[in-house]
Amino acid sequence: MWGVATAACQIEGAAAIDGKGPSIWDVYSRKRGSIDGGDTPEVACDFYQHFPDDVKLMQELGVKDFRFSISWPRVLPEGTGRVNERGLDFYKRLTDTLFSHGITPHATLYHWDLPQALQDRYDGWQSRRVVEDFGAYAALMGKHLGDRIRDWMTLNEISSFTRGAYGVGKPGQMAPGHSLASERDVNQVVHHALLAHGIACQALRASCPASPRISIAENYSPFIPVLEDPAGVDAACKAFRRENGGILMPILTGSYDLEWMEDHRDSLPEMRPGDMELIHQPLNALGSNCYTGRYVRPAEKPKGYEIIAWSPKFPVAGPTWLHIVPESIYWAVRLVGEAAARKDLPIFISENGCADSCEPDASGLVRDIDRIMYYRAYLSQLLRAVAEGYPVTGYFPWSLLDNFEWARGYSQRFGLVRVDYATQKRTPKLSYDWYRGVIAANRIV
Ligand code: BGC
Repeated sequence: MWGVATAACQIEGAAAIDGKGPSIWDVYSRKRGSIDGGDTPEVACDFYQHFPDDVKLMQELGVKDFRFSISWPRVLPEGTGRVNERGLDFYKRLTDTLFSHGITPHATLYHWDLPQALQDRYDGWQSRRVVEDFGAYAALMGKHLGDRIRDWMTLNEISSFTRGAYGVGKPGQMAPGHSLASERDVNQVVHHALLAHGIACQALRASCPASPRISIAENYSPFIPVLEDPAGVDAACKAFRRENGGILMPILTGSYDLEWMEDHRDSLPEMRPGDMELIHQPLNALGSNCYTGRYVRPAEKPKGYEIIAWSPKFPVAGPTWLHIVPESIYWAVRLVGEAAARKDLPIFISENGCADSCEPDASGLVRDIDRIMYYRAYLSQLLRAVAEGYPVTGYFPWSLLDNFEWARGYSQRFGLVRVDYATQKRTPKLSYDWYRGVIAANRIV
């Protein structure tokens, strides 16, 4: 699958139109100092109005698969109960338009825009009540959209909307930007998200009229052995299990990694009987949001590995966290089989991308050769995984359009297509032409 990825809150706009309720990002972004430039997702790319043209842009690009997310507060303005028919209708019109352009929809149920009503009612992800409500929302989507959407992702990047939003003693940068008293409280928030994933899998399987294909989009950490010999690969496997031991491992194996538990022995979440079974649902695939990775080597330490610190001038592609590590995409695939013992699981790249470093020329063209370099390097490594027989099924670059980049507002542009936010004019970048060539030739060009 050659696709492209987006998320509701980052592109749709129409934040208070046609009955949509506020999300935690609508409210959080209005808080002074929370978002660069005081930006909000209120208008974004106005995909809500412009989607027919944007679907045409996808068709011209040649993609046959589109990843987007459903805005929970657009379909359930209060988070539970009353359904907003106009919200549901939007996703029906969107999917109809995709089909008429030969494009398959891949929907994420939650890409960080919790209904504010649930934040107000019981502190959102801090409360276990969110699990049941997320299950009911998933069941509703399965019932109303499951005839047209077969490919579902439950959640996007659990660590980002839990650990990224809730700091210990200091607020996180993601909505709702709260500070919690202890690491245990943060782990409890994560545990609720894991349970929500599990209940959504069950709810979709029970409610979709045609059997759904279910996955989750996770930004687990890949580790790259500095030296790729047996000891180096062993160090990468150890790091993979332990560092991903609190999110990916329970999803894939049904228990928190034992060494991760050892690291968190004083801060483990409350786990009730049946929780781990609920978290460990059968998956049809795993989505890897892969942007970067860390280098490791074996070490004479209790952990058995050392994560290498970044050298001061290690190249980045846009944000400071986005170190350019093309091998990360190969190891993100290989280590799921080798370290987590899930060789059976098909993997698709649910996100991969970088931010621009150049402005458009007089004609509006962005000559983003750095993005082309980034994509070509990562795809070459993904091709290595394919060549070695790993079950790679698809690639969804992030993102189709420049969009609302969370706490960074509109200051960082990840799109293959430039968006002029003042006029909503779209201009495909040089990287769009390049990706179109890749898709047309079905190889790296
Ligand atoms: C998220 C996207 C985000 C991208 C770039 C991913 O972590 O899923 O929503 O825009 O990274 O920061």
